[in-house]
Amino acid sequence: MPIDKQEFRRVLSHFAAGVTVVTTVGDDGRPYGLTATAFTSVSIEPPLVLVCVDKGAESHPHFHASRVFAVNFLGADREHLSRRFAVPGGDKFKDLVVDRGVTGAPLLPEALGYLECRTVDIFEGGDHTIFLGQVEAGDARDGEPLLYFRGAYRRMGK
Ligand SMILES: Cc1cc2nc3c(=O)[nH]c(=O)nc-3n(C[C@H](O)[C@H](O)[C@H](O)COP(=O)(O)O)c2cc1C
Repeated sequence: MPIDKQEFRRVLSHFAAGVTVVTTVGDDGRPYGLTATAFTSVSIEPPLVLVCVDKGAESHPHFHASRVFAVNFLGADREHLSRRFAVPGGDKFKDLVVDRGVTGAPLLPEALGYLECRTVDIFEGGDHTIFLGQVEAGDARDGEPLLYFRGAYRRMGK
């Protein structure tokens, strides 16, 4: 018997997560992206990471089709970007300047760090799809991370 859904959510919310914006590119070159905490490193050699994308997300088919994605780590002062990319659909990139990097998936120059990935495998994960990506490039700068814990945005030490 699986855990009750509400209880599962409650317990999960006690796991502090870094906040990312995961992006990809459509067939027509349009940028897509969503706020995601379901990101983890997987392997150093080869360099692999994974992200879990809700099958109901509007951007989901574009992650499937493009087979590329970028993971942008948000800094503590970028809560507004997390909120923007957590709204379904629409043009989340309006008035945002982005770089296209090596895969074409948009990079947010305001991010604390980023990883550019090519999808090497796709797994079923219940109501989410797990995209396993090989990291082709990345960079990071100094700064404090944006965190999400018990349903609220947090900063380190607060
Ligand atoms: C803090 C936070 C973390 C989230 N993490 C994920 C995640 O890991 N995977 C996911 O699919 N959606 C996640 N979401 C929800 C998506 O950001 C949200 O459903 C978004 O509107 C999807 O955009 P789209 O429908 O335009 O693709 C998260 C939302 C918030 C606020």
